Amino acid sequence: LLHEYEHYMLKEICDQPKALEDTLAGRLKPEGVQLPELEAVWTTEALKNLRKIDIVASGTSNHAGIIGKKAFEQLLGLPVEVTYSSEFIHEHAALDDRTLVILLSQSGETADTLSALREAKKWGCPTLAITNTAGSTISRKADSTLLTKAGPELAVASTKAYTSQIAAMLLLSVWMAQKLELGDVEKRQELLDALARLPRDVDSTLIMTQDAIDQFAQLIDDQEHLFLIGRGLDYVLALEGALKMQEVAYIHADAYAAGEMKHGTMALITPGVPVIALATQGHVFDKTVSNIKEVKARDAFVVGITRVGDDLLAEEADEVMYIPDTHPLLMPILAAIPLQLLAYYSGKVRGHDVDRPRNLAKSLTVE
Ligand code: F6R
Repeated sequence: LLHEYEHYMLKEICDQPKALEDTLAGRLKPEGVQLPELEAVWTTEALKNLRKIDIVASGTSNHAGIIGKKAFEQLLGLPVEVTYSSEFIHEHAALDDRTLVILLSQSGETADTLSALREAKKWGCPTLAITNTAGSTISRKADSTLLTKAGPELAVASTKAYTSQIAAMLLLSVWMAQKLELGDVEKRQELLDALARLPRDVDSTLIMTQDAIDQFAQLIDDQEHLFLIGRGLDYVLALEGALKMQEVAYIHADAYAAGEMKHGTMALITPGVPVIALATQGHVFDKTVSNIKEVKARDAFVVGITRVGDDLLAEEADEVMYIPDTHPLLMPILAAIPLQLLAYYSGKVRGHDVDRPRNLAKSLTVE
């Protein structure tokens, strides 16, 4: 199964063009998104009834959920809340039959998320599972299921399931907007066109970043702290990048909303500390560049990740990695690739078991 790869994690990172292609296949049509598996439960009437969406998930799946939140908000104009499953079980805002609860789970077996599903059902909420595992418990118990088709994920750290979950939520948000006839058709089409290019863009991202990230991992192999900063979707992705570094490289990595550094975290920036600055979102690019200047002024070692063509970063950061330019909602999928690779190569250079990090299990069937 591993073929030419040294570890499952690397294989699964490199599998992402195919995982995304399979998740989009048969659903992304020239005339729009088709999700026949949801038609029976989700009639236009049922969708019109919704007032709120709650996305509930654990760990990396929760981070995918926060990206999904931005898509649902932008395309449907509905309020969306994202909660950790382990928190949702005990505390949540008002729930009723007009609140759609989306459960995101690669395995479809995570005990916390299964308990959250039971809680949602107790309140009469319609439920929709997005999972990578057909026939899993969460999929069987939810009212409806949308499958990601990433294929089996064997490394403990989730990679291809994460990017496939984001793609599935983008499909779902467009499909709902189509049925509700919401929003600007041209804007929706731009997103669909970008989704169609996504597997190729992910492939290019792998080619553009893999060697540079391998070298960077070696450069920071004696560092114990790492900061990831960004604004908007870049901040959400920073959360996921930090989790991967903690999990696989055992580095104390933290994500910060770039504009929040000056409200406290800047005190932690010491000379030479590595900072990964994500700057892939056009509307906040200039502000992120100002934040990079601030950490550079404290002599941090800054690696910028940005879109091809955004040359301004090269003047401010110590190193810049470029990734293809696409629709803003898809940038977190592309920018996830170098962060996954960094966790992998950092774990490897530090001699860790990258496929089976200490103290962790792939499927968490206890709360
Ligand atoms: C991190 C990771 C975990 C899982 C989490 C939820 O790389 O893999 O944080 O994302 O345990 O698992 P699922 O998605 O199977 O419910």
